[in-house]
Amino acid sequence: MSFVVAIDGPAAAGKGTVAKAVAAHFGFAHLDTGLLYRVVGRVALEKIGPSLEEDAVIALATEVSEADLERDDLRTAAVAQAASKVAVIPEVREALVTFQQTFAARAGGAVLDGRDIGTVICPDADVKLFVTASAEVRAERRYKELAARGEETDFDTVLADVQARDARDSERDVAPLAAAEDAIVLDTSEMSIDDAVAAAIAAVDARHG
Ligand code: CDP
Repeated sequence: MSFVVAIDGPAAAGKGTVAKAVAAHFGFAHLDTGLLYRVVGRVALEKIGPSLEEDAVIALATEVSEADLERDDLRTAAVAQAASKVAVIPEVREALVTFQQTFAARAGGAVLDGRDIGTVICPDADVKLFVTASAEVRAERRYKELAARGEETDFDTVLADVQARDARDSERDVAPLAAAEDAIVLDTSEMSIDDAVAAAIAAVDARHG
């Protein structure tokens, strides 16, 4: 039987950590849907260049495969920005829907994290979580992550990046970042990641048993 957990939220809110922990706890499969947009952004930067010309990007989006998600060059700040730019294009989003919905329907349960999972991709998800935190807290977390990975950056640049993506993700016409009406909101600004994980597991437990 399928069981779907949808986890949405803004950039660097901790969705990925919470999603991975929930998936491990319940033995569900996990899909980080941000990686799909990051693949399109990465390949578009390589093949099209910074113009990210729309028709060419749309053509690339139709070719994303599961193997692309394993690339080790998807987590950079430049790719994050490109991802949020290509994610505004309706045809790009459309091209990625079937992959996500097929993943969600797998037997044994699935956790998907992203921006529009509870609202557009899986509106009937069994549990919906919206994980958020202040922009400053999110930028601090992402700054530490990027620095640990050896990417040269500073806090102000990361904060500006997070705010630019928040604006683009929230203001786009198609599938904007938003909490579903029936989502449980987890504000992790003053919560440790362990507490956030525990709260998420408790929310899923209440529905899954
Ligand atoms: O990890 P982080 O929260 O920084 O970003 P991500 O989840 O990897 O997503 C990168 C970008 O992809 C976001 O800024 C969104 O523009 C886009 N995205 C989206 O539009 N819809 C999704 N379901 C997931 C990501």
